[in-house]
Amino acid sequence: MQQVLGKRRWTMTSVYETLACSQWPAKNFRDVMLSRRTMRVAEPMALLDLMSLVRFVTARREIGVAENNGRSRKIPVSAGALHPIDVLIVAGPGVSEPIVYSDVDDRFGSVPLINDHDFSSEIEKLESMLPCAKGHLLLFTGDLDMVDRAYENPASLLWRDAGAMLQSFAFAATVLDLAFVPLGPLGTGVLRNLRCPSSTFLAVATAFMGVAKSD
Ligand SMILES: Cc1cc2nc3c(=O)[nH]c(=O)nc-3n(C[C@H](O)[C@H](O)[C@H](O)COP(=O)(O)O)c2cc1C
Repeated sequence: MQQVLGKRRWTMTSVYETLACSQWPAKNFRDVMLSRRTMRVAEPMALLDLMSLVRFVTARREIGVAENNGRSRKIPVSAGALHPIDVLIVAGPGVSEPIVYSDVDDRFGSVPLINDHDFSSEIEKLESMLPCAKGHLLLFTGDLDMVDRAYENPASLLWRDAGAMLQSFAFAATVLDLAFVPLGPLGTGVLRNLRCPSSTFLAVATAFMGVAKSD
């Protein structure tokens, strides 16, 4: 593996204050794994709770130093411990501009839009996929250039890391009785309409998150 470099930073128009931590019920992880299901009837959760969850799943818990500079440990697995995937809350109650969690700085910030109208129509397309689910939409994105510096065939690493990230959110949602639905679209149209750090960023997944309701 070649030299690993750090992540590109997002431009943020404003920064959020430190967040409260979610309350985690005591549940057996085997039971959580066995009970996980995709729930498609939902109501919105508090934005602050969603931000806490995004931070919990995607925060860096150890940071590599010296020859491990650029690698870190998180809840999801990641090729080479690079963790190139960033998560944005792109729509839902309380979200006027997309909110990105910067794992480098451990903080949330607003990301400026390039075209409000096109962005909204991309969001509407995603929302229409789950007519009984009211809540927030997440966009998962990663910098192809970041993995390219470490590996050959870098794109596959983004896809696989995104899958691991989706699974981590799915288990966390199960513990908290939340509805988490990965969606078919990658979110390319959403990403195109917001200012991301580099043209080498790919949209790798979208997902819905809300409070699960029995249908
Ligand atoms: C990459 C991916 C894309 C998905 N896209 C959608 C989607 O567009 N709409 C939807 O309702 N569910 C979507 N799902 C959820 C799956 O349909 C669901 O996980 C599957 O039916 C199995 O049900 P279970 O999660 O309850 O075991 C997606 C799941 C994955 C992993």
